[in-house]
Amino acid sequence: MKSKILIVDDEKLMRVSLEDKLMKVGYAVTSLSNAVEGLTVLQSENYDAVITDVRLPRMDGIEFLKEIKKVSPDTVVIIMTAYGSIENAVVAMKEGAYDYVTKPFSLEELMIKLQKALKHKDMVAENILLKRQVVSQFGYNNMIGKTDVMKRVFEIINTVSNRDTTVLIQGESGTGKELTAGAIHYTSNRKDGPFVKLSCAALNKEILESELFGHEKGAFTSAIKTRRGRFELADGGTIFLDDVDDIPLEMQVKLLRVLQEREFERVGGEETISINVRVICATKKDLKKLVHEGRFREDLYYRLHVVTIHLPPLRERKEDIPLLATHFMKKYVAQQKVTVHSISLEVFHVLLIYQWPGNIRELENTIEHAMAFCTSGVITPKDLPENFREEETPSGLFSIELSTIDSLDLQETLSEAERKLLVWAYQKTKGNQVRMSEILRIPRTTLQNKLVKYNITKTNILATEQT
Ligand SMILES: Nc1ncnc2c1ncn2[C@@H]1O[C@H](COP(=O)(O)OP(=O)(O)OP(=O)(O)O)[C@@H](O)[C@H]1O
Ligand SMILES: [Mg+2]
Repeated sequence: MKSKILIVDDEKLMRVSLEDKLMKVGYAVTSLSNAVEGLTVLQSENYDAVITDVRLPRMDGIEFLKEIKKVSPDTVVIIMTAYGSIENAVVAMKEGAYDYVTKPFSLEELMIKLQKALKHKDMVAENILLKRQVVSQFGYNNMIGKTDVMKRVFEIINTVSNRDTTVLIQGESGTGKELTAGAIHYTSNRKDGPFVKLSCAALNKEILESELFGHEKGAFTSAIKTRRGRFELADGGTIFLDDVDDIPLEMQVKLLRVLQEREFERVGGEETISINVRVICATKKDLKKLVHEGRFREDLYYRLHVVTIHLPPLRERKEDIPLLATHFMKKYVAQQKVTVHSISLEVFHVLLIYQWPGNIRELENTIEHAMAFCTSGVITPKDLPENFREEETPSGLFSIELSTIDSLDLQETLSEAERKLLVWAYQKTKGNQVRMSEILRIPRTTLQNKLVKYNITKTNILATEQT
């Protein structure tokens, strides 16, 4: 798409030659002799860039610039000033012009500046888009949960996000600690600032110290140049310290100081650096227990423990499983453009009795696996990873909270139920067809047809019983 440029200059010769040149190189150009008209045009159309003279009748270039920033803040502005009036250029830059040229200028000079300005505009737009994507990844919408414990988690996130309180997130592996930290940051008023993460797991004192606080050039042999640490990088935003329990004791003192005073020195540095950072920590362990064992400083524990969010393991909130499974299915459908559209009730049944040691991450991986193996539109138990098939129990029919799912394949579900009931009857009667047709209350020929349809034979039943 052609970039749209608006030129405003009351000198006709200048205006026409600029317009001519810019059109030749492929821009879509409009040129006008005054800013008042320019503003009217900008109110109804989007322009990528405006090139305007400063000295204009009725409304001058600086006034025009201020108005442009109000009606179309994304449009980049280049100002043309007369030779010897550099002060105009200074004011214009202060008011948000991207660049200026001093008359007389060569067309090449202007072209280079214009290209740079347009590139800058694209980058800003891309950044905004990226940030939006990050928000949609972390926003509440993507944090699923309808159980009371999760509702409580959302409530806490909501309450603390705009306060600068330190938050400790505690939960088993894969329960959503990082997602929660992101949700706090991206719903807080620091959301436009950086969200910096560091896992403290298995980092020795030296590396951790330099990661957290940075180092000066020459602080140690490999410090060939000054490096800023994560705390500095997070200035104005949030730092997320994962596996905080793993911080060596001697580093815990240093962390305590930052939490208390919000200042520190780089490794090998003299200068005290002050920062404005919100701290969120996460741990899979019971910090209190570590305090008792003398492996975690008590004073630091109390600093971190101001607000604690406990993320429950998935097995303690099984009602969320169908919701989460459906959410991940939709996520992968959108990402991979596959045609899977639902999950069978039997799969839900299997997912509900599983213990989920890897929690939500494991559930997400399971759905991803199943979708890769699913050949019809519906995920069935055969699509699940090996270990789930063993979990299938023939003890009940289905137990499923229908209110938690959006759709199901009726035919497929009924077939599954039918197959399951036939297997049940087969096992109960040891394959005696007369008894089977009695307990299922169907004619023997119908029964035989169905046994063939579902491939229920002595060998198959024995095989299922043995697994
Ligand atoms: N409530 C939720 N709703 C939707 N997806 C979730 C939820 N909680 C976690 N997830 C997803 O599960 C995966 C694991 O979450 P996350 O990385 O936040 O867990 P974690 O507790 O930090 O894990 P670990 O302890 O292994 O570092 C991620 O892909 C995340 O998007
Ligand atoms: Mg994590």
